[in-house]
Parts: sequence; C-alpha cells; structure tokens
Amino acid sequence: MWKRLFGGGDKTGGNGAYRYGNEHLIELRRIVKTYETAAGSFTVLKGVDVQIDRGEFVAVIGKSGSGKSTLVNMITGIDRPSSGEVLVGDTAVHKLSEGQMAVWRGKNLGIIFQFFQLLPTLTIIENVMLPMDFCNMYTPSERRKRAMMLLEQVEMTENAHKLPSAVSGGQAQRVAIARALANDPPILVADEPTGSLDSKTANAVFAVFEKMIQEGKTIVMVTHDNDLARRATRAIIVVDGVVTNQYVTRALPHLGVDEMTRIARQMNRETYEAGATIVNQGDMADRFYIITRGAVDIFLPHPDGQEIHVDRLEAGQYFGEIGLLERGTRTATVRAYSDSDVEVATLDREAFTTLLQDSDLTRDVLDRTRRERIERDESNLGRPTENMSNA
Ligand SMILES: Nc1ncnc2c1ncn2[C@@H]1O[C@H](COP(=O)(O)OP(=O)(O)O)[C@@H](O)[C@H]1O
Ligand SMILES: [Mg+2]
Repeated sequence: MWKRLFGGGDKTGGNGAYRYGNEHLIELRRIVKTYETAAGSFTVLKGVDVQIDRGEFVAVIGKSGSGKSTLVNMITGIDRPSSGEVLVGDTAVHKLSEGQMAVWRGKNLGIIFQFFQLLPTLTIIENVMLPMDFCNMYTPSERRKRAMMLLEQVEMTENAHKLPSAVSGGQAQRVAIARALANDPPILVADEPTGSLDSKTANAVFAVFEKMIQEGKTIVMVTHDNDLARRATRAIIVVDGVVTNQYVTRALPHLGVDEMTRIARQMNRETYEAGATIVNQGDMADRFYIITRGAVDIFLPHPDGQEIHVDRLEAGQYFGEIGLLERGTRTATVRAYSDSDVEVATLDREAFTTLLQDSDLTRDVLDRTRRERIERDESNLGRPTENMSNA
C-alpha cells in the first residue's frame, strides 16, 4: 500500500515516470528574471544555475527579498524566466504553453504554500480529491479511497469531513501536503510551508516531509527556519539573486543564512589547469580552499626527496585548513588532478578566521578533519611526525 502510494513504479507515479536525457531531475540553467516596474527594470535572479537530483531534500534559504520564491516559481512554472532554461525531468518547463503547464504541473508537482490555500467551501477530503478530479487521475471511486489514505499519512482522517475553517493551521498544512500528494507527483515544492506555524507544529509538518523523502520523493523547500534547513540534505542559499555554489554549502553545511551570505560575498573563484600546482609545500598559508569542480591530489614530501600521494579530494571537500589553523606554512603540495581543470572557491585568512569565530560547529568539524589528516599523513610517512601533514 505504502509503496503503491508513494514509491512510484506505475505509469503515473513516483520516479518511474521519469526517464530522460538530462542528468538531473531538476535543472535551472543560467536563469535571469527581470521585472519591469515603474521605477525601471529590476533583476531578481542574476544568472542562476541549480541542479537537483532525484531523492534530494533541498532547502532554499536566504534573506527576505533575496529571490527564493522567484526561484522556486521557475521550477513550478508559476513564473517564467526572462532568459535561461528550466528542465524538470524530460520537460522544458519554460517552453510549455499555459494549458500544457497546468496539466504538466498537476501530474508532476505537488505545490505547498505558506497559507495552505485550501478551498473554504469544500470539505478536507474534497480538497484532497480536487487535483485528481482536475487531472482526471484514478477512477472516481478510487479518488475518495486514495484521499482517505493520504489523509491517514498526515494523521487527518478524523477531520476528513470538516471544512478547513474547523481545523488548526498545522492541521490545514498537513491537509495541503496530502492534497499536494494527490496525483503521486515525484516532486514536492514548498514555499515557506512552516512559515505561519509555531515551532512544534512546524516540526510535525517537517516530519511529514522527511517521511516523503523516505518514500522516494524529491523535495524543494523554501524556509526561514535554519534548524529545519539543516535537516534537509543540503541547502541552496540565495544571496541577492545569486545562488551560492552547492559545493561550498556542502563543504560548510553548518553555516546559517547570515554567515553564508557574508562568506558568499567574500569568496573568490580560481581555476587551475589539469596538473597545475595550487599549493606548494613550504609556502605561506594565506587562504582556505573549497573545491567546486574537479579533483585535487595531495602530496607529502618524503625525506628521501620523493613525493608520496596521500589523498584525492573532490568537489565539496576543502583543503588548506592546517596551514591556516596551526602551521602558518603549507605542509603538503596540492595539485589539480591530471584529468581535468579544477575550480576552487577561496577565503582569505581574515575571512576564514572570522568564519570560525562565528560558527562553533564549523570550527569543530574543521578541527576534526585537521586531526584526521595529520594522523593519515603520519601513517603514510610510516612514523609519527610533528612536521608532516596535509596542506
Ligand atoms: N511581480 C513582481 N514585480 C516586481 N518585483 C517583484 C515581483 N515579484 C517579486 N518582486 C521582487 O523581487 C524580489 C525577490 O522577491 P521574492 O522572490 O519574493 O523574494 P523572497 O521569496 O526571497 O522573499 C523582491 O525584491 C520583490 O519585491
Ligand atoms: Mg518568498
């Protein structure tokens, strides 16, 4: 039952509905969104690239007015880009006509808003059945049964025949989630779904999302709540209409919106050709590196003059912390992996130091990584050493 409802595999459902050429389930390519206003034109999204894979639970965070709603409205087709492409599964969403869009959306997306938007004159179960009626999914007799099963998932069966006005905000939001799941869409998009709920109720609603992830859904959720955002698989952070690199957020998962916003403004981007040296053993340590594309190899100098290859790091990993945290100079050499270009985001010493002062969790994690790497280096060199470690 559970599997049939949420697991997909049938022609309408879950992930089975998607078989496509492009790699990611959701992909925004170079999205620009400009509004023409009386005061002139105003660019909200400034060339945004986002990739989301099947089964991910992605939180979209950022300050009010940064462009979060505009971003997710691109995915749902509620709004259209001024330029750029929106690919969801095998559908080029930006190319759909309004009529095609409504049908596509009804079958493929579940959308949840901050203010539930239940129809006040329909009972709760009728609200949940509405998308099935609209898209003519399931037989009429199956629809009621299915709506009841969905209400069971969100623990709302007892209220099935009440009007929305008779239930609390948290309950209404759970109904909205059940309604979003009506046609068993593979993707749920939620814009501040807990924004008008108290924290206990927000937690209960969030738990429903976590259950949906276990059932194979992909979720994109705008949220103001840092604690909830941390429980998602990863966060997309919107800063002034630009999205922070996903590998930067992967490398530093414990940062809040404010810290990440500041870091994003302080980061520089550098690229290195395949095989190029990024960090030289013995050099002064002046910045921290996060790999955003490609891979790097770490080499230790051996006393006999040879280099030992001790590690390979990939996008979403970082290096350079040891030199900054303890040595002052680089204790290893780092080179771009010989197969491809490498792109890194860097933070200078001052910004790095501030970051660690602001985030205890980040400092603890970096400290642990540093200790593990020093141990690794010691064992690679076959003896305990004070001097040898990773960059
Ligand atoms: N239809 C519109 N016309 C003009 N400006 C808009 C429109 N929609 C949103 N904006 C502006 O775009 C910016 C980003 O809005 P939004 O995406 O709603 O931000 P967020 O969801 O992060 O709070 C805001 O400054 C907002 O005023
Ligand atoms: Mg918004």
